[in-house]
Amino acid sequence: MDALLAIQTRHSVKKVKTDRVPRETIEKLLAAGNDAPNHHKVRPWRFFVMTGEARARLGDVMAASQRERLPDLPPAGFDKTRALPQRAPLIIAVGVDRPSDERISEIENVCAAAAACQNILLAAHALGLGATWRTGEWADDKMVKEFFGLAPDQHLISFLYIGYAEGGTMFPQRPAVDDRVTWME
Ligand SMILES: Cc1cc2nc3c(=O)[nH]c(=O)nc-3n(C[C@H](O)[C@H](O)[C@H](O)COP(=O)(O)O)c2cc1C
Repeated sequence: MDALLAIQTRHSVKKVKTDRVPRETIEKLLAAGNDAPNHHKVRPWRFFVMTGEARARLGDVMAASQRERLPDLPPAGFDKTRALPQRAPLIIAVGVDRPSDERISEIENVCAAAAACQNILLAAHALGLGATWRTGEWADDKMVKEFFGLAPDQHLISFLYIGYAEGGTMFPQRPAVDDRVTWME
């Protein structure tokens, strides 16, 4: 798919089938993420690829964390949380390395990892998959970060939910760019 067409037609796909995504396809997505621009060649992204039971383990951690914060929530609330990672057969969570020396800045590492996320979304779209970038409260959850082996002050910037679209997908009406632009000569 042409790059501009991929950018223009990519959109969040929230309802996906349970069909598994083949390993070779997942590897293409990861390679696309790894092709993102980054300063000082630090490749600050960390990809956590979850399929099968790993999604259930993530759901357990999310529910346990919620139970600590909201002990009075009815059990149905925890069950709903536990089921969240089952919304797609593949989740790629993206963490960010902390700067490893003084030349490297935190914001630049986050920018590079965000570029990797967008590369993965575009690659997924080009490969006929649907995807949604999700964060919610879980991206800043200490127990969830610990599950991935990330430190509490490390950024976890996305859960990319990926699968084959279920039914027709909604293409959003996007506002024109004009009000975001200052032309300077
Ligand atoms: C940093 C970030 C966090 C996001 N978190 C969520 C989320 O928690 N839940 C969700 O449904 N979508 C989330 N999104 C996806 C946006 O809602 C989605 O991209 C937006 O609605 C635009 O739709 P489009 O992707 O079809 O253009 C997030 C996107 C970004 C960039």
